[in-house]
Amino acid sequence: MSTNIVIAIDGYSSCGKSTLAKALAQKLHFIYVDSGAMYRAVTLYFLRNHVDLHDHAQVAEALKNIHLNFHSRDYQTHITLNDEEVSDEIRQMPVSDNVSDVAALREVRHEMVKQQQRMGRSKNIVMDGRDIGTTVFPDAQLKIFMTADPKVRAERRYKELHEKNPDVTLEEVFENIAHRDYQDTTREESPLVRAEDAIILDNTNLTPDQQLQFALDKIHALSEP
Ligand code: CDP
Repeated sequence: MSTNIVIAIDGYSSCGKSTLAKALAQKLHFIYVDSGAMYRAVTLYFLRNHVDLHDHAQVAEALKNIHLNFHSRDYQTHITLNDEEVSDEIRQMPVSDNVSDVAALREVRHEMVKQQQRMGRSKNIVMDGRDIGTTVFPDAQLKIFMTADPKVRAERRYKELHEKNPDVTLEEVFENIAHRDYQDTTREESPLVRAEDAIILDNTNLTPDQQLQFALDKIHALSEP
């Protein structure tokens, strides 16, 4: 029987899942896995190698050539794609504009979910994404489903991106977020949906500390009789 604890955090694009997941992992000394970074790194590989998303054989072949690794430093996500550090590049707009198409592919999801499940098999883990509480870890001890006002989400992401790339506009970020939400919730293969047993957390008006406290209270409640 496994004794490891899994915390699954799912929700819409750019609503602070990774901020909460990182803070929780740090506080509890758990491993943190940003599952979105995996889909983003696969997307980067597909873009660079002009993989045709409609060609199943090409997609399957490309997946065999992709090796992803996480290197956790100070609970920041560092991901390598075939030994190249790609953590910054995967956050840029070209990847954001294509990631939901790539993440909708069955072959891609099967491979990522397999790798994610392996990571949570023997360790205490916080993982954030879209299908963690529904598909990757349906038995997670705690599931949180996060949401926030779309305008607030776009403003937060715009601030983050604009620091590194002054050309990015708020409109483009807002549209990207809205489009990804639409694609992620309407795709056939494990769409973004709240697991029945997930607790909803709307952080539109919460500070990072307040949302951390909310989650910690839920975790403490788990151990109460
Ligand atoms: O940080 P942000 O909320 O903008 O997105 P992310 O977590 O980096 O995920 C990027 C994209 O990957 C999402 O829009 C989904 O299309 C896909 N994704 C997914 O399908 N399943 C996951 N478990 C995580 C991400």
